[in-house]
Amino acid sequence: MKQRRILVAVGGGIAAYKIPELVRAFRRVGHEVRCVLTESAAHFVSPLSLQTVSGQPVRSQLFDAVEEGSIDHIALADWAELVVVAPATANLMARLAHGLADDLVSTLALATRAPLLLAPAMNVHMWEHPATQANLSLLRERGAQQVGPGTGDLACGYEGEGRMAEPAEIAARSEILLGRRDLAGVRVLVTAGGTREPVDAVRFLGNRSSGKMGFEVAREVVVRGGEAVLVSASSALPTPEGTRRVDVVTALEMREAVLEELPDCQVVVMAAAVADFRPASPSATKLRKEDLPEEAGLRLDLVRTPDILAEICREKTGRVVVGFAAESHDVLASAQRKLARKGCDLIVANDISESSSGFDVDRNTVSFVWPDSPVEELPPLSKQEVAAQLLDRVSKLLDHRR
Ligand SMILES: Cc1cc2nc3c(=O)[nH]c(=O)nc-3n(C[C@H](O)[C@H](O)[C@H](O)COP(=O)(O)O)c2cc1C
Repeated sequence: MKQRRILVAVGGGIAAYKIPELVRAFRRVGHEVRCVLTESAAHFVSPLSLQTVSGQPVRSQLFDAVEEGSIDHIALADWAELVVVAPATANLMARLAHGLADDLVSTLALATRAPLLLAPAMNVHMWEHPATQANLSLLRERGAQQVGPGTGDLACGYEGEGRMAEPAEIAARSEILLGRRDLAGVRVLVTAGGTREPVDAVRFLGNRSSGKMGFEVAREVVVRGGEAVLVSASSALPTPEGTRRVDVVTALEMREAVLEELPDCQVVVMAAAVADFRPASPSATKLRKEDLPEEAGLRLDLVRTPDILAEICREKTGRVVVGFAAESHDVLASAQRKLARKGCDLIVANDISESSSGFDVDRNTVSFVWPDSPVEELPPLSKQEVAAQLLDRVSKLLDHRR
């Protein structure tokens, strides 16, 4: 894949502490990154951190003979294939909108011909201020792209719009602007979330899966130019941009949706946590303890649900099929057994024994278990990084089969 040159311009907002993570995301997929900071930004993130993660000298001053001597600001503006301004402060957007060139970042933004991606972040009142909105409109009219901001708790203590888009989202939008497309023409079916098996009209048997892992895989597929069909079981997460989403609840509904979508998909990634058992005869009405004899317990009869992964693997016909195995103990051995039993191309073994990785958190500790090559054990990574690593492998498998 072609390595691209990205200039990350960091503004003086609290979200600047997330920028090393953004730089790492760019570098992980092979891009060359250079960072420049406004003077204010250096209060929020250390130039040394950015230099370390980018592997390149960092610039913040326009009038610095040493910095200007290493790479002059016009050469830097020409070097960039994409300029990402993150966090884009209210002040920085005002300067860029009005063509000011009174520091290194604003001068570079004016001098470059590269597309500009803004990731605004600020207090909700600053964000909603007509001055900020007018500046942003001006920048958008001139072709600047925007990612975020999101809504939620803000560092200033307010709640509302103004949170910088997550680094993964900024990286994803950047890839689209750079046109990276190693999965172009490939349709990927991704399952995510946890199924719910009704016990009665209000209760269900469920599991702790949030859907984050599968949603990250779907997002990454789109970033790489593929088509993602996301069969999602009971996940409250927003649909990743460009993804077609099919919502299901039970394992039986999941099977039906998967089998319907399957014929047009060249890759299947089964990241959902699908129930192995379901209540044999759920009650259509709510079960009430008053209806049972005093002190009586309740016995539920469970029956097996269909094994969707095994069913898909029986008729793979050249399709790449990836399964997930969430295990609390004996992780690798049981993943290897699952791989042999189901016959898929790869099992992502997922260690859920650590509370900081696995269900409903942003990190995951996984190993790739292959039928005929040694196990690859990955360090704890963000789910976006796991998704990217996984799709690197899928992309290679597809290349071999072509
Ligand atoms: C603790 C603190 C946090 C701040 N966070 C933000 C922010 O998230 N967004 C923003 O637009 N300004 C924020 N500001 C204000 C900017 O730092 C200020 O407007 C500064 O002039 C921006 O400079 P720059 O745009 O050149 O980076 C913050 C200021 C302080 C003291």
